[in-house]
Amino acid sequence: QIVRLEDYRPSDFLIDKVELDFRLHPTATKVTATLSVRPNPSGRSDVPLVLDGDEVNLKAIALDDRTLEAGEFEANPESLTISQPPQHSFRLTIETEINPTANTKLMGLYRSSGNYCTQCEAEGFRRITYFLDRPDVLAVYTTRIEAEYEEAPVLLGNGNPVESGFVEGTGRHYAVWHDPFPKPSYLFALVGGRLGRVSKTFTTMSGREVDIAVYVEPGKEDRAGYALDALERSMIWDEQVFGREYDLDVFSIVAVSDFNMGAMENKGLNIFNDKYVLASPETATDSDYANIEAIIAHEYFHNWSGNRVTCRDWFQLCLKEGLTVFRDQEFSSDERSRPVHRIAEVKALRSRQFLEDSSPLAHPVRPIQYREINNFYTATVYEKGAEIVRMLKTIIGDEDFRRGMDLYYDRCDGRAATVEDFLKAFADVTGRDLSHFARWYAQSGTPRVSVHGHHDEAAKMYRLDLRQQTPPTPGQPTKEPLVVPIALGLVTQDGQPMDAHCERVNSRGVFVLDKTEDSITFTGVASRPVPSVFRGFSAPVKVSLDLSNDELLVLLRHDTDAFNRWQAAQTVAMRLLVSLSTGTPVSDEEMASLSSALCAFIETDALRDPAFAALALTLPSEADVAQEIGKEVDPDAIHRARKAMRRHLGNACREQLLDFHRSLAQTESYSPDAASAGRRALRNAALDLLAAADLRTGEQLASTQFETASNMTDRLASLSVLMTIPGMVRENAIAAFEERYRSEPLVIDKWFTLQAAIPEDTTLERVKRLMEHPAFSINNPNRVRSLIGNFAMLNQVQFNRADGAGYAFVASIVLRADELNPQLASRLLTAFSTWRMMEPTRRSHARRALQSIAQKPNLSRDVGDIVNRSLEES
Ligand code: ARG
Ligand code: ZN
Repeated sequence: QIVRLEDYRPSDFLIDKVELDFRLHPTATKVTATLSVRPNPSGRSDVPLVLDGDEVNLKAIALDDRTLEAGEFEANPESLTISQPPQHSFRLTIETEINPTANTKLMGLYRSSGNYCTQCEAEGFRRITYFLDRPDVLAVYTTRIEAEYEEAPVLLGNGNPVESGFVEGTGRHYAVWHDPFPKPSYLFALVGGRLGRVSKTFTTMSGREVDIAVYVEPGKEDRAGYALDALERSMIWDEQVFGREYDLDVFSIVAVSDFNMGAMENKGLNIFNDKYVLASPETATDSDYANIEAIIAHEYFHNWSGNRVTCRDWFQLCLKEGLTVFRDQEFSSDERSRPVHRIAEVKALRSRQFLEDSSPLAHPVRPIQYREINNFYTATVYEKGAEIVRMLKTIIGDEDFRRGMDLYYDRCDGRAATVEDFLKAFADVTGRDLSHFARWYAQSGTPRVSVHGHHDEAAKMYRLDLRQQTPPTPGQPTKEPLVVPIALGLVTQDGQPMDAHCERVNSRGVFVLDKTEDSITFTGVASRPVPSVFRGFSAPVKVSLDLSNDELLVLLRHDTDAFNRWQAAQTVAMRLLVSLSTGTPVSDEEMASLSSALCAFIETDALRDPAFAALALTLPSEADVAQEIGKEVDPDAIHRARKAMRRHLGNACREQLLDFHRSLAQTESYSPDAASAGRRALRNAALDLLAAADLRTGEQLASTQFETASNMTDRLASLSVLMTIPGMVRENAIAAFEERYRSEPLVIDKWFTLQAAIPEDTTLERVKRLMEHPAFSINNPNRVRSLIGNFAMLNQVQFNRADGAGYAFVASIVLRADELNPQLASRLLTAFSTWRMMEPTRRSHARRALQSIAQKPNLSRDVGDIVNRSLEES
């Protein structure tokens, strides 16, 4: 059962109208679906009608009001077939029954904290009723929802409310919703429950009044304000930047506590993991606020990039996801600091997407085949997909990009589109041939671009030799050159921007490399320059530079491009960390040149942009170093190397760091804005390095901060520093935190994560013990990811224990979770994607753990797919 892109053909039938009637009940919800079906003029005729199902419990079926007898149809939980359907329009009425309480997969209709909700992307609608559950079948939906009033006083559906009332003498009530915009089934949603609400009226640019609302658990309304504010800012931004206006009378966001992913863009009714809605200074960190803002924007932006223009099939997932991630990144950059946000994006891309690209799970941004589509909601589709859109904009320029977007929306509104439709809009607007650029969608793997400079002093010429090469990935042994935009400039050895000329670099400072090798020559270059390439991270590639550490440190001090200032220090730090981790000697001078450059930099520049300085002081993570080394990895050696470097840096900059920690202490009341968050980030980065340099100082500063903190950011940062210092102070702080937040599941998640990340041999036992904690539940994805997912992803030394106990533990949890929630289990399993780069002992333990999963009978398709791909020889 492999689905292939090349096998796509239009549906033989269309469904224009859907009327749904839900009678909500905790264990026996009754659904009546009336579908207006007709043969598709561009499909085949005289073929059976086959509707998709998934664990469907069919109660009755009628065609044009005539009940069908056994023999006129064939039904099983996975499909409904009518072998001789009418050759004209007809109505199909299907009654099904659902047990939402028993739905632990969190797909289709389920209950979370007693509330009813749905998740239909990608293929969840077929768990509600039989349907042509594919994104190119667009219908107009009317939904009637009925429930016990006491159980579900709030009833929400897609579109606009049309009617509501009580069902006389039954204690039940109902609401009818109508969505005038044709949509695929994956965008269907309903919610029923006891919910508190915060709302306001938003007036769109054309003067339409929209009731915008956030629904949360009653009593948590005071934590919904930031989400509502972020929604309003997103609506304004999409009008101003993309000219896109909202199109219904209401827009609702509902927070639920059991959710497989981050959130879902159902038309007019977004459903969110509550982690990405609820925030207060006491319970949320600065990064929680930033994530909430980004995800609220992301789901809202889908109203155009995803809903008004949807996808023809699931191979086109990046069409909506890559584009929408690009849009939410641009929003956050405009709302916050652009360079700081860009660095955060690139850090995430490298740690998740580059990792995926170098693993057995590597796949193109537009995959050509899948076994289970849920396994393709990946960093590659989302984040690399966004980078492709960004490169397109870099190549064609801002104005043409906006004109192309307008043309795309114009042409494709109300349709199910493809990546080709998207690119065609930009090709038509610019007159460019984008067929070579399109290879980014098809070719997987991270290209490596090497850059060599040659200076000819006599001729005052400087030549850059550029070469690209992409390593093989599963299913793609050979690679072609890609179209790589390189934003670049030259800097003198003492840091001044150089006014050199090269006709192949455009007016925006971009050279486009589209061959395996190319050279560009600058004239008027009197002295040997330092090249600053891939400014702003202009392409998702790995770069090898022939620059010395000293030259890189010139860029740290002087480059006009903030991203490359940060990158320069990271490159030097990475070189040293790789040497230290692999037994290559590093001299004291080499260490000192980085630390003194960083100290000098923070002394003069840190307070101008504290958030940037905090990023500059943060060394590449252990996982980043492992990825850079790439083979025969020893996580213990990397851990020791990074610890040594942090100690060195903390000592070298001690006075300055102490000063930051003192002077940046919170005085005013908490505000989540980017500037305040930046000051907290710098102060907490300073604390971390001070503790690395001297445990006693660190313990003292951190425990004082822990006790006096006025917000979660500072409290959690201090607790995380205490985690690195074994002893009673730490254990007491762990207990105090638990005591204070025991009734706050989202805060307990942070507490789980910190403990799971302790790099000590006793952590595995601690994690097992925490699984018995009353707040833990294997059924709740947030709990499982916080405790077990983060053990596997953040705790490099303990997940990758040399005795294999970390792998065996995570494998056992994957198997347990798989019986309840396959999506959750398969996500957890992706932690093994680094196994092949480990040294032999660890590698064989990991292989055995994977094999133990692969051998288990009745694996879900989700886990079966990931485990097989992970083990495949490439
Ligand atoms: N479209 C959603 C988003 O971008 C993701 C939903 C994915 N859900 C799933 N079960 N695969 O935010
Ligand atoms: Zn999305």
